[in-house]
Amino acid sequence: MRNLCIVGLQWGDEGKGKIVDYYADRFHSVVRYNGGSNAGHTIVIGKKTYVFHLLPSGLLKGKRLLIGPGVAVDPQTLQEEVEMIRREGQKPNLLVDGRCTIVTPLEKEMDSFIEKLRGDRAIGTTKRGIGPSYAMRALRLTPRAGDLERGTFDLSSAMAFYRTFLKKLPSMEGWTDSAKASLKGVVGDVGEEITETNEAGHSVLFEGAQGVLLDLIHGTYPYVTGTHTLASYVPASLGIPATSLGDVMGVAKAYATRVGEGPFPTEIHGKLETLIRETGREYGATTGRPRRVGWLDLVALKYAVKMNGVSTLALTKLDILTKLKEFKVCTHYNVRGTETDVFSRALPELDSVKPVYLDLPPLYGAELTTARLHRPMEKFVEFLEDEMKVSVSIVSMGEERTATHQRAARQARA
Ligand code: IMP
Ligand code: MG
Repeated sequence: MRNLCIVGLQWGDEGKGKIVDYYADRFHSVVRYNGGSNAGHTIVIGKKTYVFHLLPSGLLKGKRLLIGPGVAVDPQTLQEEVEMIRREGQKPNLLVDGRCTIVTPLEKEMDSFIEKLRGDRAIGTTKRGIGPSYAMRALRLTPRAGDLERGTFDLSSAMAFYRTFLKKLPSMEGWTDSAKASLKGVVGDVGEEITETNEAGHSVLFEGAQGVLLDLIHGTYPYVTGTHTLASYVPASLGIPATSLGDVMGVAKAYATRVGEGPFPTEIHGKLETLIRETGREYGATTGRPRRVGWLDLVALKYAVKMNGVSTLALTKLDILTKLKEFKVCTHYNVRGTETDVFSRALPELDSVKPVYLDLPPLYGAELTTARLHRPMEKFVEFLEDEMKVSVSIVSMGEERTATHQRAARQARA
């Protein structure tokens, strides 16, 4: 079986955690390849809700967990999550790449400092130090996981650098020792292990964090995260051949959400906004902030599907649409009087585009059965497949592992 990458197609929070957990059984290992503890991956099993920021979502299935060199690792979060899993009676089978960028309290302080500087142009970051840590990486001022574990680094240049900006540095007392302790015995070479796993005939699952529209280069800059979110970052960051990427499953929510600032053409305000937020429990898993909500944006989705080379789609949170008496999707943008469905053309002026909507038959009250899709839901899924030109292989209708409908390929169904 080929490797599989599960990637978010919107602004994050598409429900990737659930989908990764659902598929993890079929794979030997689950690999995080981007982002850091800005991510919040939620998995619900029975009455228990788990949120992971750093550990790959395969951990509840007892999988080998790999954190690749492209991830910004906050040793404190790592330790907290490992302890949480231990309390559940499990021992995470973890490997952290020695080349991972380390997040220290200095980067978190800097994150808040820069946000303040920006004033009303603040990004609305998660304040987890993600942007600053990748910047420090590029400046070659930050330790990597391996440097920390071996004790072959010196934070003095970084501290001197930060002193030029920050009046008061956060206390670093005891930080090095506890960071070192959290990495003890788990640092290694993730790329090499993936290659060996594949050579032994086993496949791995790459778990994306955030979504395409938050990509540092291809997203809605500057309202983006500090790293790359595309599936094509998998081989580059892990140092494995491009051909090892395997299949790409894109995860899209049946409506849109965005947490933080930045353009959001299909944003909804008012009563419907509240209804969607409350029904969909749209609050940030990392920061608890209310998420902005909007209609599904097919212009942006098409861009994300194409750019990732998505081979199959997972559609999530359809149950929320069954509580709404209207249902719209945005098919085009009106950009200064001209209609386009090419996202990259509209991107420089995304703030001012006007969404052109198509009204679809509401799914209000549609029955939620996982054995087969209720007729109006099936119609919508087929519509989406025609628009995106890829098949939907999984439809999620609730937070629970079991609230999942697996679809046969369209040709086979016909
Ligand atoms: P940062 O990644 O903390 O620098 O935040 C930059 C932007 O990305 C902000 O708008 C955040 O709200 C957003 N963001 C970062 N991580 C996630 C995520 O996992 N889900 C949703 N939004 C995120
Ligand atoms: Mg999330």
